[in-house]
Amino acid sequence: MKADADSMTWKTGDNIGVSECMRLTVKEGKWLIDRLEQEHELSKAEMAALIDANCSELRDYARIKARAIGDRQYGKNIYIRGLIEFTNYCKNDCYYCGIRCSNTKADRYRLSKEDIMACCREGKKLGFRTFVLQGGEDPYYTEDYIVDLIRQIRTDYPDCAITLSIGERERESYERFRKAGADRYLLRHETAAESHYQKLHPQNLSLRHRKQCLWNLKDIGYQTGCGFMVGSPGQTADHLAEDFQFIRELQPEMVGIGPFIPHSDTPFAGEMQGSMELVLYLLSLLRIQQPDLLLPATTALATVHPRGRELGIEAGANVVMPNLSPVGVRDKYALYDGKVCTGEEAAECRSCLERRIESVGYRIVVNRGDHCSAKLMKS
Ligand code: 5AD
Ligand code: FES
Repeated sequence: MKADADSMTWKTGDNIGVSECMRLTVKEGKWLIDRLEQEHELSKAEMAALIDANCSELRDYARIKARAIGDRQYGKNIYIRGLIEFTNYCKNDCYYCGIRCSNTKADRYRLSKEDIMACCREGKKLGFRTFVLQGGEDPYYTEDYIVDLIRQIRTDYPDCAITLSIGERERESYERFRKAGADRYLLRHETAAESHYQKLHPQNLSLRHRKQCLWNLKDIGYQTGCGFMVGSPGQTADHLAEDFQFIRELQPEMVGIGPFIPHSDTPFAGEMQGSMELVLYLLSLLRIQQPDLLLPATTALATVHPRGRELGIEAGANVVMPNLSPVGVRDKYALYDGKVCTGEEAAECRSCLERRIESVGYRIVVNRGDHCSAKLMKS
């Protein structure tokens, strides 16, 4: 390979990489994609070069392969998760996020246990068999509170999966939540590259700790999801190659990715949005690297393009996570500007999604949508 991938840089929001002379030819790119399919592994330099070579011909090649792999693994089934965004208070101050603690303009809310149970009731009626409890890192919801909430949902909905997405906690807390009945945990690592992590977060947050949380979650027996933003300020192809390497080591059951979208009341207000084409390309490469992954077509992807979710599915995604939160609070969970589906009732969103998914030849299935390894995991 002629390119020295270690010195490649990335222009944020620009899906054309660095100077042409350093890029792979399409033929070399296809060869690397074939190898990724056969070996499920490329070196970091190879992956960086492949990511940097992002062009429509390689995207098409990766997409077709990824979709064939996805269909072999999951057929035409798309899993749905009901997302309950129960608090937008957050003690953290990540530079990219609209609900960071120093955004005094954020209109803060917390859902009560009764509110959350009402969301589950509505969700069950609409065919959801997974509830995702997502929130900022909000100390108001103590360990005991969360345990109690999980027990309640577990008792009332024994056939539904419970996913938590409530940030970094002690190993002991994760263990208690698991014992109480939580099945899955989402904790995006945001970026696996130390220097880039520091550019996106204040000093009190550490990548090492975040990765340790993910290892703990895996070890405890959660179906675990990590993930990263695409096109966040300062991100390079090298950084993204590190994300792929970390994912190969961790072997998560789920990976959530979406474009970085600036929020006007954050330090990154003036930064460029991440490229949708790059997100789609990376979805395909993730599917090829790890065929059994649960890969959502995210709300952020739907926000940057009117057919973002459909394109995500066509690129290899097999999960969608519509919102079940009460419409009154939806627009307050504003991580980035312009978030879609904040005005629609859950039922409207559900039928709209169904049409969208069917328009690309897939169907929503009413089941828990576990990862294929779930039955083998420790309980
Ligand atoms: N643009 C895109 N995604 C964002 N997230 C947070 N802020 C933004 C933003 N400005 C993502 C993070 C987080 C997830 C819940 O939302 O990856 O983990
Ligand atoms: Fe939510 Fe269409 S998917 S309104």
